[in-house]
Amino acid sequence: MTTSKTIIITGSTDGIGKHLATKLAGEGHKMIIHGRNHLKLKQAIKDIQTQSGNDDIHAYQADFAKKEDVYQFAQNIKNDFDKIDVLINNAGAYFGSERVATEDDVEMTFMLSVQVPFILTNALMPLLENADQGRVIHTSSYMHHFAKASNLDFGLKHDYSAGKAYNNSKLYTIWLTRYQNKALRQNNSKVTINSYHPGLISTNLNNNDIKKNLKSMMLSEIMKPFSKNLDECTATV
Ligand SMILES: NC(=O)c1ccc[n+]([C@@H]2O[C@H](COP(=O)([O-])OP(=O)(O)OC[C@H]3O[C@@H](n4cnc5c(N)ncnc54)[C@H](OP(=O)(O)O)[C@@H]3O)[C@@H](O)[C@H]2O)c1
Repeated sequence: MTTSKTIIITGSTDGIGKHLATKLAGEGHKMIIHGRNHLKLKQAIKDIQTQSGNDDIHAYQADFAKKEDVYQFAQNIKNDFDKIDVLINNAGAYFGSERVATEDDVEMTFMLSVQVPFILTNALMPLLENADQGRVIHTSSYMHHFAKASNLDFGLKHDYSAGKAYNNSKLYTIWLTRYQNKALRQNNSKVTINSYHPGLISTNLNNNDIKKNLKSMMLSEIMKPFSKNLDECTATV
């Protein structure tokens, strides 16, 4: 029997995050789930409780496109919990052909893959330190191999494409992991930090482009037979 842990998964209203939350809830862990959409979050609590038989599910709403929501989310967790065993920074998106940015002009793919995990890891570190063996997991992607990072142009203001934003952000996720790991080791922290690639999985990830063209839709269909299923993906974590 595994000891029950307190686990946060961001972006757990769909895809990998929801599946993983259901699996871990089924193993008896206390789950803190998160989403930006109230109705999807309500449905996720219901589905996870029903499928896992575990009622110890705590849900928080926050739109990570807004920095104040990210800080408020972390504050709410700090108000409600003394200890976090695992923080899984999973929320992410693949945007469309138009560059999308936060109010203070942070490109949105970068915001979700890099800035939010950075803020949450720092803000929740005291709770992770309170665990016997705190763990942070950032979600990267195999696509980081195709990154074309130049001149530390994180904002891609003049040279934006959805693919470049996504691939670069997943490389920066790995850079962030290395940087944070070094800092933790220098401070003799017992918290560990890793990033992972879940595998190619057919989810809603690529559905943010309202102008999605025929070519990208055909490509998703062609890639489906090569996709892992969600059980294979969550085994990687
Ligand atoms: N699928 C793959 O093949 C694959 C491969 C490598 C890496 N990944 C990574 O795995 C992670 C999960 O992806 P997925 O495939 O499971 O995608 P998904 O099905 O689209 O799920 C993404 C989750 O993130 C949430 N999210 C998106 N934007 C948000 C925002 N502004 N604020 C708060 N939450 C937000 C979504 O909320 P809603 O439910 O409201 O949309 C959803 O819960 C991502 O980091 C992705 O880059 C995926």
